[in-house]
Amino acid sequence: MKDKIKVGIIGTGGISQLHIGAYKKLKDVEVVAACDVNAQRVKDYARKYEIPNVFTDYKELLKMKEIDAVSVTTWNNFHALVSIDALKAGKDVLCEKPLALNADQAEEMVEASKKTGKLLMVGFVRRFGENAKILKQSVDQGELGKVYYAKTGVIRRWGNPGGWFSDKKRSGGGPIIDLGVHMIDLVRFLTGKPNAISVTASVFNHVGMKPEVKGINKYYPVDYSEYNDVEDAATSLIKFDNGLTLFFETSWVMHVKEDYLYLSLYGDKAGAQMEPFIEYYEEKNHYFTDVKPLVDPASYDFIHNFEEEIKHFKDCVKDGIKCLSPAEDGLALMKILDAIYESGKTGHEVIVK
Ligand SMILES: NC(=O)c1ccc[n+]([C@@H]2O[C@H](COP(=O)([O-])OP(=O)(O)OC[C@H]3O[C@@H](n4cnc5c(N)ncnc54)[C@H](O)[C@@H]3O)[C@@H](O)[C@H]2O)c1
Repeated sequence: MKDKIKVGIIGTGGISQLHIGAYKKLKDVEVVAACDVNAQRVKDYARKYEIPNVFTDYKELLKMKEIDAVSVTTWNNFHALVSIDALKAGKDVLCEKPLALNADQAEEMVEASKKTGKLLMVGFVRRFGENAKILKQSVDQGELGKVYYAKTGVIRRWGNPGGWFSDKKRSGGGPIIDLGVHMIDLVRFLTGKPNAISVTASVFNHVGMKPEVKGINKYYPVDYSEYNDVEDAATSLIKFDNGLTLFFETSWVMHVKEDYLYLSLYGDKAGAQMEPFIEYYEEKNHYFTDVKPLVDPASYDFIHNFEEEIKHFKDCVKDGIKCLSPAEDGLALMKILDAIYESGKTGHEVIVK
């Protein structure tokens, strides 16, 4: 077993800041190389984080023999290409969500991981929050009984990040693939990873990006532009092979009073909700009873979750422990997302295979 693993980061934009922040906290990791197609951006990043090797072509980074693992934090359209090349170059890979633009690409990635025997982990970071861990334990221990219905949503009144996010060629889609991927994954993760069997969805394109809106805080990604050819919002009903039905909704732009995020599970013994807090709805001594565990909010904030995710990736690479977020789960999600887009187009139920 090595004392230290060496890591490269491919794509040095927004989310790579959280990857490097988490790697830097680990004594047994050395980040030795960074790559971005934007030469100035990667140069600044390498200077800021004291990374000795800088590339603008990821294939050159992959030639570095001493690199054990890479984080792939590029636009979505490069996830498959870069991850497959990295696996073939003998590196273990942590690829950001969504695993790919679609299920076909995701399938090729899973195949490449199997063929090379290298790890491909997908960045489902919400799984690593303490709130998710506690609720999963409750479900696993049968405290909710049979979970037959779930609801989840991420709704933004105005939250289209623009740039590559709203350029379908590079992102694969809007809030469904950007936000929905996290929430649908979390429901699958919490409920024992059932496979979807059918999806009925509506995908909305009525409002547009609304760059002219004033008076609100806006998030701009590093390469902001107003090009937009992705959906505003979507709603869907997803049925799983264990009898679970999931209602899912999302928006980047919608005329709603305020933003909200939720995840609710309904079992025959109890219900629960999380995001951000966990609360259980039980029955005790013939009274309906609400139970709210006291959980430190710092144990499920964004930075904490990334630190846990990156530490887990390192443990997988260095010590060979079982991966909690394998590429197969990324593929299962891409099948669901493909079906949501397909059902939105046809107006009919789509059978997921
Ligand atoms: N887990 C999460 O909660 C979370 C949050 C935000 C973003 N993400 C994901 O992280 C990825 C990056 O998002 P971001 O917000 O950091 O975007 P970003 O635009 O800030 O950064 C992406 C970077 O990748 C670079 N890049 C693009 N193609 C490249 C290539 N072929 N080789 C090298 N560099 C390349 C771009 O120049 C840019 O600097 C996306 O897949 C996104 O879905 C995940």
